[in-house]
Amino acid sequence: MLWFLVFGFVVSSSAKLSEEEIMKNLTAISWAHAVNNKTYLKTALTGEISMLEADIVMGTLQGQDGPPLPIMAHPPATSSDLSLAEFLSTVTQHNKGLKDKVKGVKLDFKTIEAFEKSQSVIAPYGSGKEKFPLWLNADILPGPVDAPAKPVDPVQFLKLGSQHPHAVLSIGWTTQIGGEVIKEGEYSREHIGKMIQIVNENKVSQNVTFPVRACLASNSQPVLLDLLRETSSLNSTLTVWSSEGDHVTVDRLRALLLTVGLERTYLDVPIDLANKLHLPQK
Ligand SMILES: *[C@@H]1O[C@H](CO)[C@@H](O)[C@H](O)[C@H]1NC(C)=O
Ligand SMILES: *[C@@H]1O[C@H](CO)[C@@H](O)[C@H](O)[C@H]1NC(C)=O
Ligand SMILES: *[C@@H]1O[C@H](CO)[C@@H](O)[C@H](O)[C@H]1NC(C)=O
Ligand SMILES: *[C@@H]1O[C@H](CO)[C@@H](O)[C@H](O)[C@H]1NC(C)=O
Repeated sequence: MLWFLVFGFVVSSSAKLSEEEIMKNLTAISWAHAVNNKTYLKTALTGEISMLEADIVMGTLQGQDGPPLPIMAHPPATSSDLSLAEFLSTVTQHNKGLKDKVKGVKLDFKTIEAFEKSQSVIAPYGSGKEKFPLWLNADILPGPVDAPAKPVDPVQFLKLGSQHPHAVLSIGWTTQIGGEVIKEGEYSREHIGKMIQIVNENKVSQNVTFPVRACLASNSQPVLLDLLRETSSLNSTLTVWSSEGDHVTVDRLRALLLTVGLERTYLDVPIDLANKLHLPQK
């Protein structure tokens, strides 16, 4: 009898789990990019998009004097009509009272200074009080293929990131710009090893996602699987992204997504690439 009860419990809980797993399809989450001004923020909030990606630099608000503050802009721009503070309060206002369909936010910090100066602005949102997804993103390590961009200081980024325990840390590698150049590139064992090391050394203890560029990630399946295994206690996921014009081997990318699993892979790529993937239906 006892055996029967235990057996029954195991069967029903595993059945429940797999149902939940099937319902989770992170590739179905849609993205808006460079939501760095008031007009586009308004448009993005009224549409069906679920995650708003936006860039933060230190700069000034158009038509205003004063010391630099965190604003929504992509380098080389240093001015905007939208501050980080107003961006976050506008999204919060939009999400108030909504249960489904809340908009999440991915903040891409271009410099460590911008992240440092944003701490007090982000604090109320990363504490769990506001119930919408908040991602804090930076390229914290040098990546393929000899990327010229300087990474954001990883130790400082992770230390400050830990002050916002309900935020997801989105931590990646700089990449070379220009699809032609990186056609044959990949994330090497060294790139991945360095990330695992830095996550461990800095005792990261919140959810993480690793943004990886599709054209490189599709050449790097074995090491990306290692990365996810080593960080599984942090509910780690991949965020596969791609730029217009990147040369992506569709079959290899599809194989990566299906091997990692749609429940563990966000997909932020141009629509024509997404359509070519022919992902399996429910
Ligand atoms: C606002 O942002 C969108 C998306 O980045 C961009 O296409 C548009 O040109 C921007 N508008 C202004 C006035 O800067
Ligand atoms: C962390 O990830 C788990 C598993 O996906 C999820 O249930 C939880 O809500 C996430 N927490 C945060 C703060 O994102
Ligand atoms: C991972 O997700 C589980 C389930 O939602 C949660 O209990 C746990 O706290 C999460 N781990 C981290 C590091 O946030
Ligand atoms: C997952 O979402 C993608 C994009 O919306 C869709 O093409 C695919 O059929 C879905 N697959 C599953 C198993 O839900």
